[in-house]
Amino acid sequence: MQKNPSKKYRPFPPISLPDRQWPNRVLSRAPIWCSVDLRDGNQALAVPMNVSQKLELFQTLVKIGFKEIEVGFPSASNTEFAFNRRLIEENRAPDDVWLQVLVQAREDLIERTVESLVGAKKAIIHLYNSTSPAQRRVVFGKSEKEIIEVAVRGAQWIKVRLPRLKGTEIMLQYSPESFSATEVEFAKEISEAVMDVWQPTPQHKMILNLPDTVEVAMPNVYADQIEWICRNIKTRSSLIISLHTHNDRCTGVAATELGLLAGADRVEGTLFGNGERTGNLDIVTVALNLYMHGIDPELDFSNLNSIIEVYERCTGMTVPPRQPYAGELVFTAFSGSHQDAIRKGLNEWKENSREHWDVPYLTIDPADIGREYREVIRVNSQSGKGGVAYLLESEFGIELPKDMQREFGPIANDEVDKLGREVSGMELKQMFWREYVERNLPWHLLSFDTESKNGIVKCRARIIYKGGIPHEITGEGNGPLAALVNGLCSITVVQQYVGARFEISNYSEHALGSGEGAAAIAYIQIKTAHGKTRWGAGVDTNIELASVRAVLSALNRL
Ligand code: KIV
Ligand code: ZN
Repeated sequence: MQKNPSKKYRPFPPISLPDRQWPNRVLSRAPIWCSVDLRDGNQALAVPMNVSQKLELFQTLVKIGFKEIEVGFPSASNTEFAFNRRLIEENRAPDDVWLQVLVQAREDLIERTVESLVGAKKAIIHLYNSTSPAQRRVVFGKSEKEIIEVAVRGAQWIKVRLPRLKGTEIMLQYSPESFSATEVEFAKEISEAVMDVWQPTPQHKMILNLPDTVEVAMPNVYADQIEWICRNIKTRSSLIISLHTHNDRCTGVAATELGLLAGADRVEGTLFGNGERTGNLDIVTVALNLYMHGIDPELDFSNLNSIIEVYERCTGMTVPPRQPYAGELVFTAFSGSHQDAIRKGLNEWKENSREHWDVPYLTIDPADIGREYREVIRVNSQSGKGGVAYLLESEFGIELPKDMQREFGPIANDEVDKLGREVSGMELKQMFWREYVERNLPWHLLSFDTESKNGIVKCRARIIYKGGIPHEITGEGNGPLAALVNGLCSITVVQQYVGARFEISNYSEHALGSGEGAAAIAYIQIKTAHGKTRWGAGVDTNIELASVRAVLSALNRL
């Protein structure tokens, strides 16, 4: 890197717009959306999509609700041309969907493009030429006047061919490519020259697309450029002003949102931001950003996972795990404090005590886009007891009592810390089983029977201590557990082990699963004469035995 970057690079000159209006506006409705996945997105793939992949993605775009879809560059290759023909001849586009095609200002290419559209119901012909000083100088070696002539000739070649498309509803679109790096005065001049040819009216508008082909400035500068054009271009009411941002400075979404505040009507972009270099605008993000402010985006992402699946299959691209809204980790909290806050927020929402969504760390309800609450919490060494308990309950129906969560949480965290990675729900269950359910040393139960008379329960148990000979224990109480505790506390070895005696200080149980053969789990906390407490857990198809095992588990953990 340069020690002094100003020697090599210079700041982008600001637009003079002292009374800019856009900072005081708010967005209140969805723009017109145009997907350019099948053209700009496709152009940027290492292996461009074949016809059947393009067809599958086209159908998905229609299902999402796009009414304008740039389907390709039909003059660029036979595949592109054939795709267009199939869409039209097989009647694949619904009546309200516009097929948009891109073309350069060259007569042979325009001829082929018009040919590709014969028989279409609705079509947008999109003409472009590049206008920035660098493009004029380096690529074309043309003056401003000559660049305007290129655009005007292209517009005329299209206009004279329109009678060939009788029966097709046509809309015309012009893009001064590299608009954001072009002087606004020149962008206005060239756009007005094209308008002079096409003669749009408020009843039959043309689309003026103003691309941020390469992001060269902050998004507020793009917004100024858009507002400047909206205010200075002639017959604004005959135009649909369209945005087309790329993401070189990682502000494609911000530039689009500010561009909409600045007066644009329409947005071009792709699913998940696929496109040249750092990508096109991610339309999913802009649409769901509107949604999270209560604005209907008029695009349906309620099953985002299936859209991701089609997108990844057709393009060969992957959606990164932290992609806004769509990424696998977006609705996952790793830190304990986040998990606790999310659980409280979700509970408040479930209890219906709030009118509007206000859950900490979750900008929208994941369920609205087909994601699951299950994904909200995972467990690593930073997770709190809440996360651990949530996972055991949501995946295995293990409902740890609150106080037991406080005991097991740190135990699980220590184990996860040693592993140095995130653990699955199954691993967490195994930790719980090892720590509680499978603890049968030093005390191991061989058998347990009870008989009850006049409300008094008598028990008989055979228990081994430290692998020695079995102790025959008898006891009585007002229930099987009371009888067991009474029996245990009557033998010397237990008295020495616990320090005189112990009692049951907490108890709960529930079924694990349903049906006759379902096991039950019991959670028991014991307290010794010295005030020491320990939790234990036992599992058995017989609930009485599950409780007895839980007592021994607690004893084994003293
Ligand atoms: O990024 C761009 O400028 C384009 C144009 C062809 C609209 O894709
Ligand atoms: Zn582009």
